[in-house]
Amino acid sequence: SPRQLLAGKRIVVTAGGTQEPLDPVRYLTNRSSGKMGYAIAEAAQVAGADVTLISANAALPTPSNVKLVRVQTAAELLTSVQQNFATADILIMAAAVADYRPKTVATQKIKKTANNETMTLQLVRNPDILKTVAASKEPNQVIVGFAAETNDLLANATKKIAAKKLDLIVANDVSNHQIGFNSENNQVTFLFANGEKTKTALESKRAVANELITILANKFSFNE
Ligand code: C5P
Repeated sequence: SPRQLLAGKRIVVTAGGTQEPLDPVRYLTNRSSGKMGYAIAEAAQVAGADVTLISANAALPTPSNVKLVRVQTAAELLTSVQQNFATADILIMAAAVADYRPKTVATQKIKKTANNETMTLQLVRNPDILKTVAASKEPNQVIVGFAAETNDLLANATKKIAAKKLDLIVANDVSNHQIGFNSENNQVTFLFANGEKTKTALESKRAVANELITILANKFSFNE
């Protein structure tokens, strides 16, 4: 396991899935458990990094010696990432961010009505957090994104590297139930901005996290 590979580095990890409220009792969300992001936060802390874990609604134990920030919505996640990114050496965006949120949040519970058999929700686009922070990226900062895809995994992931100005993307096939959402294991392809790629074995999320830590320590140079 990586020992002190990231000593003195400041790492911000996001994990979990955002919840977008609709009314006081309902929200829109996704199937992210937060397990991959939490495993990365733990592995980075063991490797000597100063870790801030921004958790969107994950129901998991807080890793030891990690600074935990809890958020609910994509808007709150954006604010927290912006606050923490400026002084970070590495940002790892493992959170599943809702692409859209309800246009209005009702202050009272929305009621069904006798005459309405269908209902339409209006959604508005959430900001892209990676694109927003990439705009202020310093040359010595490293940004890692995730791509959870059900089809055309590598083609879609490659597009995201360019669109979001990433150094590295962790691509995982969520159509395979042995890996991905809420499972204990994962199998990912690490795709670099220069087109290089490497695929892991099917292994625990902590093992994937350790491989990511080793890659970060080896491939990227950080300011001393
Ligand atoms: O575009 P897509 O959501 O598939 O990209 C996934 C990557 O982008 C993840 O790293 C995710 O955390 C990040 N993301 C983001 N802001 C959004 C949507 C996704 O930073 N609004």
